Amino acid sequence: MNDLDTLVQAAEADFAAAGTPAQLEDAKARFLGKTGRVTELLKGMSALSPEEKKTRGAAINETKQRIEAALTARRQALADAEMQAQLKAESLDVSLPGRQRGGGGLHPVSRTMERIEQIFASMGFDVADGPEIETDWHSFTALNNPENHPARSMQDTFYVDMNDEAGRPLCLRPHTSPMQVRYSRQHAARHAGADPMPEIRVIAPGRTYRVDSDATHSPMFHQCEGLWIGENVSFKDLKSVFTDFFRTFFETDDLELRFRPSFFPFTEPSAEVDIAFSSGPLKGRWLEVAGSGQVHPNVVRNFGLDPERYIGFAFGMGPDRLTMLRYGVNDLRLFFEGDLRFLAQFQ
Ligand code: DAH
Repeated sequence: MNDLDTLVQAAEADFAAAGTPAQLEDAKARFLGKTGRVTELLKGMSALSPEEKKTRGAAINETKQRIEAALTARRQALADAEMQAQLKAESLDVSLPGRQRGGGGLHPVSRTMERIEQIFASMGFDVADGPEIETDWHSFTALNNPENHPARSMQDTFYVDMNDEAGRPLCLRPHTSPMQVRYSRQHAARHAGADPMPEIRVIAPGRTYRVDSDATHSPMFHQCEGLWIGENVSFKDLKSVFTDFFRTFFETDDLELRFRPSFFPFTEPSAEVDIAFSSGPLKGRWLEVAGSGQVHPNVVRNFGLDPERYIGFAFGMGPDRLTMLRYGVNDLRLFFEGDLRFLAQFQ
């Protein structure tokens, strides 16, 4: 082995010992740099004869090429190793269990609302939605409430410091009954000239607001209004609609209905509706579930209809209370505190 082969071997060993690109560049300088060993060899040729220079020069050049080839190979090896290390660091372990988002689900009261809508829709009722900021005209006046009715007071109703375009005071609707008026006026206008007018059959579920808060009252709560108006609609129909509804809602035929005389300004006569189960944990207790009545002639007139011709019934029930009864929950506030430990039980 001559001195040039030894030099190539030394370079290969140095390059192999370089563990990083920076170390490799240092090693390169030691062999191929301005003061490197190959350059020294070239300088040492000055004393040779022209003939010797030719053979020696060719040999040194070949040596230089071998060292450069070794350098390139080592550079590539270091780059490959770095890539492998990076791939390894960034690799995904697909055998690890995934991080999941919580499943989510409908609020129990939303479930009840959907259930109510489905059952009434199956009985031919339209489902209407309406504003939560409502005029006091729709909330009270049109529903035959006298000017001085206590429900109109600030103690009971949240007023909004604004009027509508017609200058009427606004409030957060204290019940869904204003939707009777909105829906019926639209219906009457749409079917003006139809004789007879197609029946009105609608429910209006939604949020309602009152100045009230304890275990069974929340300042925001839910109601579902119902209305059926035609030429020949009576309390008999109300009873059959309600019986079907509650039996379907609670999934039992072991359930009885009772109408108890009551008073609402917008109905005459009026009744509270109670139900009692003949089995199960609530067996034998009468539970109040809705208000109802024959729609008052003044209200029918405010619908834009002739009360001598069009009659019917209305009702209002509380989806929050129905949810409590269905699931056996005894504090209304649990529904609105947003505690997932409570809410997740209904999924
Ligand atoms: N609006 C009544 C309330 O909030 C509930 C109600 C009772 C609605 C009788 C009706 C009805 O439509 O006929 O207490």
